[in-house]
Amino acid sequence: MTINDTMYAKIEDTARALMSSSYGTAISGAGMSAESGVPTFRGPDGLWTKYGEPDDLGYEKFEQDPKLWWETRLSSTYMPEMKKALDGAKPNDGHLALAKLEEMGHINCVITQNVDGLHSEAGTENIVEIHGNNRLLRCIQCENRYTPENIPMEVLPPICPDCNGLIKIDTVMFGEPIPRSVLLKCQNESSQTDCMLILGTSGVVYPAAALPSIAKSSNGATLIEINPEPSALSPICDIVIQAPTGVALPALVELLEMEDSSS
Ligand code: OAD
Repeated sequence: MTINDTMYAKIEDTARALMSSSYGTAISGAGMSAESGVPTFRGPDGLWTKYGEPDDLGYEKFEQDPKLWWETRLSSTYMPEMKKALDGAKPNDGHLALAKLEEMGHINCVITQNVDGLHSEAGTENIVEIHGNNRLLRCIQCENRYTPENIPMEVLPPICPDCNGLIKIDTVMFGEPIPRSVLLKCQNESSQTDCMLILGTSGVVYPAAALPSIAKSSNGATLIEINPEPSALSPICDIVIQAPTGVALPALVELLEMEDSSS
């Protein structure tokens, strides 16, 4: 996709907003990883569009019988299409540009709904994974996260080595509350930001979808959306750039680098 004059003007507005902001943040969704080959959930090729959205009982089933849940999990592959895409996925130009924005001091924190770990792999350091990370496990009691190698699986369900709580996958299940410490960090980041990039999300899943409104109401934050399609959040955004993140974010970095070198 090429960047036309109207789009370029909006990217320039975004660069100005970030330059005058004192605490820039970003929130990302599945669209951010679309250019890495990871399927989105909604929209024409989305997983939920193809297979239907799961009911809200996932977490309840885990709580009712964690042993059976783990036995089933270990004997079959959940969402094989997603697993295959995640296994081979690499950060795209959008992830790399966002990490660069952090390195340049324009973005202080990235809140992501994605479980693919691609922001970290691209180099983003201050990250909150509001829906967890598919490569990790988590204790539902103390909320510590572990790599699978550190949790014995001989006896199911696995138990937290720190507090004896139940261990589950870190990915937030349908019907599961967001871990308290994670939600608190999201709320803190959103209430202190004065400029938030909203990247590749349909903005329909809460509480993540409420964070831009928190940013706006707490701090009058400038909200900037980058998404080829309108989303549920477009109406509250100050700037809407209708482009893939893998195109618009590198252009934004380029502009900011030019500004930095001329000042
Ligand atoms: P969705 O699938 O709902 O939305 C993806 C968004 O990405 C859409 O608005 C697309 O227009 C946009 N998009 C597609 N390609 C893009 C590109 N190259 N650049 C930028 N945007 C692009 O995904 P999410 O909003 O992330 O939760 O969904 C939120 C949550 O719903 C997910 O975290 C997941 C799901 O249920 C859990 O699994 C807990």
